[in-house]
Amino acid sequence: MTTIMRQHLIDPEICIRCNTCEETCPVDAISHDSRNYVIDAAKCKLCYNCISPCPTGAIDSWRNMPADQAYPTAEQLLWDTLPGQIALDAPAEVGAGGTASETPADVERIAAASTAGQGGAAPPPWSAAHPYINLYGIHNPAVATVSGNFQLTAEDASSDIRHIVLDFGNASFPVLEGQTIGILAPGLDANGKPHHVRLYSVASPRDGERPKYNNLSLTVKRVTEDHDGKPARGIGSNYLCDLKKGDKVNVVGPYGTSFLMPNHPGSNLLMICTGTGSAPMRAMTERRRRKFSAGESLGKQMLFFGARSPGELPYFGPLTKLPREFIDMNLAFSRVPGEPKRYVQDLLRERGGDVARLLRDENTYVYLCGLKGMEQGVEEAFTEACRANGLDWQALRPQLLLQGRYHVETY
Ligand code: A2P
Repeated sequence: MTTIMRQHLIDPEICIRCNTCEETCPVDAISHDSRNYVIDAAKCKLCYNCISPCPTGAIDSWRNMPADQAYPTAEQLLWDTLPGQIALDAPAEVGAGGTASETPADVERIAAASTAGQGGAAPPPWSAAHPYINLYGIHNPAVATVSGNFQLTAEDASSDIRHIVLDFGNASFPVLEGQTIGILAPGLDANGKPHHVRLYSVASPRDGERPKYNNLSLTVKRVTEDHDGKPARGIGSNYLCDLKKGDKVNVVGPYGTSFLMPNHPGSNLLMICTGTGSAPMRAMTERRRRKFSAGESLGKQMLFFGARSPGELPYFGPLTKLPREFIDMNLAFSRVPGEPKRYVQDLLRERGGDVARLLRDENTYVYLCGLKGMEQGVEEAFTEACRANGLDWQALRPQLLLQGRYHVETY
């Protein structure tokens, strides 16, 4: 009896070589050379951790193969396109990644998971606008012109965070709040290869950083150290932070079909972020602020935003000027001398009653963006806030995910 396996592959035509999948894979099944990213069928455990973070969807590629004929990585490295599905005799068994063995029902479950929740990309809100993706790739990037580069952090702050405005002239580059774009930094890496794509969330609304202009903004922190605090120079962030007005930038994308905002009247936004994770929140808030200024009635906006100090919090000035009836703002500072350290999850707990009231409302959409570490703390705060107010977060969470009402982007 032939064992048929579902081989996990990467589409070389769509892949932008951003390295996200290789960084995400917990079993080191993904590797690359200067040409392609590939998956070792003998190592892949079909955990799906890599599916959701992939900005282009190139990672969501599958072929049913006889288990003893899986495409070896050496062959995948030579591909320009994915091979078609080969004709197979009636499959008797379906195995995954050359290791586990699954029934056809499992395969259906896996396919469903890779498109909605549970490890795959969550669906967008039902009323989200339809996003354009993959309009520009590494071989045909859009060329944007820098029209502004402003420092958002205080002069004496420990970090340098910038608001960078890119103008697309007559090039078509439509984006929605919550989408990301890729930047191609010029030059070569230590191996003499072009730098891989760096991804940044768009910080401006769909109608432009300046309304009715074909431009967008990014919130970029200059990376000067790695996760362990050792000195390290971020290639993409330093390139962007050093740009001057008039400089040209190669841009790919846009990406993202899930972390999008609802558009129906009465929808509420519960936004939680730290540092530059504020970019998509700024885009969504600004979209709604323009509507609010035009007299449109809106649902509720509640924001929890964490930074070291007011001087390190991007958009601190403009945020504090927003009317209270427009947004319920909660700022958590962790390093203000003489004040206790506060994280966003501490404020979520303090506002537990209001948070639970929003979570109970089926028109509420939750967005979480920023440091990976806050994810667990926020989930715990949700659990407590729900428990104290007659809700069960463990039961609610999968519902929210399935309904496109819970979106998480952490790094
Ligand atoms: P901390 O002062 O402990 O680093 P950054 O400036 O590094 O981008 O961080 C943004 C904010 O997120 C800082 O206030 C930082 O506090 C805070 N932070 C760090 N770790 C966590 C965590 N696990 N949960 C929530 N907030 C965190």
